[in-house]
Amino acid sequence: MFRIESKINTKSPEYQSNRDEYLKLLSRFKATLATIKQGGPEQAVLRHKERGKLLVRDRIDLLVDRNTPFIELSALAAFGLYDNGFPSAGIITGIGVIHGKEVMIVANDATVKGGTYVKESIKKHVRAQEIAMENRLPCVYLVDSGGVFLPEQANVFPDKYDFGRFFFNQARLSAQGIPQIAVVMGSCTAGGAYVPAMSDETIIVRNQGTIFIGGPPLVKAATGEEVSAEELGGAEVHTMISGVADHLAENDIHAIQICRNIFESINRHQYQELETFPIEEPFYDPEELYGILPIDLKKAVDSKEVIARMVDGSLFHEFKERYAPTLTTGFARIMGYPVGILANNGVLFGETALKGAHFVELCTSRNIPILFLQNITGFIVGKQYERAGIARDGAKFVHAVANANVPKFTVVFGGSFGAGNYAMAGRAYEPRFLFMYPNSKISVMGGEQAANVLITVKEDQLKAAGKSLLPDEREKMLQTILKKYEDEGSAYFSTARLWDDGIIDPVDTRKILGLAIAISQNKKYEKTQYGIFRM
Ligand code: COA
Repeated sequence: MFRIESKINTKSPEYQSNRDEYLKLLSRFKATLATIKQGGPEQAVLRHKERGKLLVRDRIDLLVDRNTPFIELSALAAFGLYDNGFPSAGIITGIGVIHGKEVMIVANDATVKGGTYVKESIKKHVRAQEIAMENRLPCVYLVDSGGVFLPEQANVFPDKYDFGRFFFNQARLSAQGIPQIAVVMGSCTAGGAYVPAMSDETIIVRNQGTIFIGGPPLVKAATGEEVSAEELGGAEVHTMISGVADHLAENDIHAIQICRNIFESINRHQYQELETFPIEEPFYDPEELYGILPIDLKKAVDSKEVIARMVDGSLFHEFKERYAPTLTTGFARIMGYPVGILANNGVLFGETALKGAHFVELCTSRNIPILFLQNITGFIVGKQYERAGIARDGAKFVHAVANANVPKFTVVFGGSFGAGNYAMAGRAYEPRFLFMYPNSKISVMGGEQAANVLITVKEDQLKAAGKSLLPDEREKMLQTILKKYEDEGSAYFSTARLWDDGIIDPVDTRKILGLAIAISQNKKYEKTQYGIFRM
């Protein structure tokens, strides 16, 4: 492979000012993250500790092997929603290592409204199980939850991917031989009772964990029976009488130790072999991304400059360098793993789509994971392009990406707009992981384009009625739409709603992708079969 030749002048004022702006974005992101990681209100945190319980992130720290990375997912879920009353949506999910095995951890934060579930908490729990299924990861559930957040019941209870999906997924995961372990460290009420009940092995903490289908108030209301929580479904009951739990723990630390011990008897299989290479740091410093990544999305960024700061040795074997240059395609290595990269360099034309489809075929036929680096305004529009069949060519690319069965990973380093989002493995195209950068933006089209479309539609309507849009009405409409797109297009808006797996610091990209590829090896890559490519 050849080293990418960077053309960036890190001394230029343009680079420096981009870097300064980027560092401001990054510090806002890090400050937001730090606040969120404090969990629920101070009082709730204090009460939690007074009960002798560990905070959720401390539980996870103890559970995973020392000095191993934990990839936390969607830490900013529910950010800006519910008056910011559900930090991280009240649930921490992520992949950690226990006795050398990669494990999906799903842990309630009881300091956030008693660990109850709103829509985003459920999406996060279900997404974690989906990742576990796609990558054959055992799951550990650290349960401490009052179940459904009752005022939101209509948004969380009955639909296909609502609360009930947890248990459906547990049954399916278990049937596929993917271990399910529950540690009951607090409440496990109503539907929540099925998390431990449907696990392969369950641990419960004395005087702390409870499991019941209906809690004491419900029992009293339903049958008149008066019973304490401990008597109804405490640790003694479930480890001695009902057998719903298998192991009794004296406290959180003991429970976590038992959980770790369980993993000593779980085998680690690496089902997919990949040819790996010695890890080499990029020749160009990844920190230089701060001076390069687009803050103003109108600024063109050569995606090879981004690739050069992400891949081993900044080495890249480019495919079709001279053809359709608005899409860069080529092979590289990340943390020693082989990867095929598609990165945007401008709008997608018909020939760009063909090049993309061809390259995806190369990756699938060689069983090489694919990385999509998105900075895309969409497909080209206009008479000339429609007549040349842009829709048909775009369809080939979308078809190839949708059917590619090697693991796909998507990182949005700039904009993600229109059908470009689809062709470049947006969420609907099932990349194993999708991450956003703090500067990135995502929406059906850019704000200005949307405003122009809507204003034109309005003007046409008025014209047909013999009227016209006054200049100040036009301006007001423009500003309203721009503001809406600015807010709704931000990475924070996306990550709050689980459209992605989290916002990441660009410098961490290669580490995270390296882990993501390693995680993908837990499941054998399936053969790709394409359907009809319209010619
Ligand atoms: N729905 C909505 N809010 C709930 C809730 C639920 N299911 N469970 C707890 N909360 C809220 C409480 O109102 C309180 O809110 P506040 O901080 O605004 O006052 C907060 O969560 C903490 O609850 P609290 O009871 O003070 O904390 P706790 O640690 O002593 O007890 C629980 C936590 C979960 C054990 C307890 O609240 C409980 O039993 N909840 C009901 C569980 C239930 O029956 N769920 C059925 C759902 S299907």
